[in-house]
Amino acid sequence: MAKSILLCCILAITCTLAVASDPAPLQDFCVADFNSQVLVNGVACLDPKLVTADNFFLSGLDKPGNVSNLHGSVITPATVEQIPGLNTLGISLVRIDYAPWGVISPHTHPRATEILVVIEGTLLVGFITSNPDNKLITKVLQKGDVFVFPEGLIHFQQNVGYGNAFSFSGLSSQNPGVVLVPDTVFGSSPHIATDVLAKAFQVDKAIVDQIEAKF
Ligand SMILES: *[C@@H]1O[C@H](CO)[C@@H](O)[C@H](O)[C@H]1NC(C)=O
Repeated sequence: MAKSILLCCILAITCTLAVASDPAPLQDFCVADFNSQVLVNGVACLDPKLVTADNFFLSGLDKPGNVSNLHGSVITPATVEQIPGLNTLGISLVRIDYAPWGVISPHTHPRATEILVVIEGTLLVGFITSNPDNKLITKVLQKGDVFVFPEGLIHFQQNVGYGNAFSFSGLSSQNPGVVLVPDTVFGSSPHIATDVLAKAFQVDKAIVDQIEAKF
């Protein structure tokens, strides 16, 4: 009896793991063939005979991105778009540069958990648990510190140091995706009906119009 309960638990855990990130590969690799017309979950495979080391390679992540923009931050991605060899492997990487007080807006990755390491500077980071608690889990990170943003939860980063900062993040998808809360809610095309947002945020319609005008 105890044995079968244990077996059920192991099965349940294993099944959960199997659906919690990108599907497991069924071959050594499947380098993305972006020219293929075949539509699959991911990208169709390039003929393995044509695969070279460059399909698994990217350079330049030592170089700071340009942070002269509204948010004072920039993301340099290393996902399947940049490294076709990541196709079907369930993993990717990004470099993030931050100007002093630069922000990565509250956002979520629909397909990935993120693990971030600060290489330079001081970052305020946090994520918020789902309803009904909506609890903010937050910390100030120094160089060398690591923090995890669980899959699907809204999170943010801010450079709270005096100089530039940068971090790297590993993500548990070849294509983590990003849903920026302000851009999706107030900047959708076409806009969500003003009345919906006015009621949702419990503000005057004019305030909704004012925020929408910025996107
Ligand atoms: C950085 O971006 C700003 C704004 O787009 C641009 O004016 C500036 O030339 C860029 N700097 C570099 C070094 O590319």
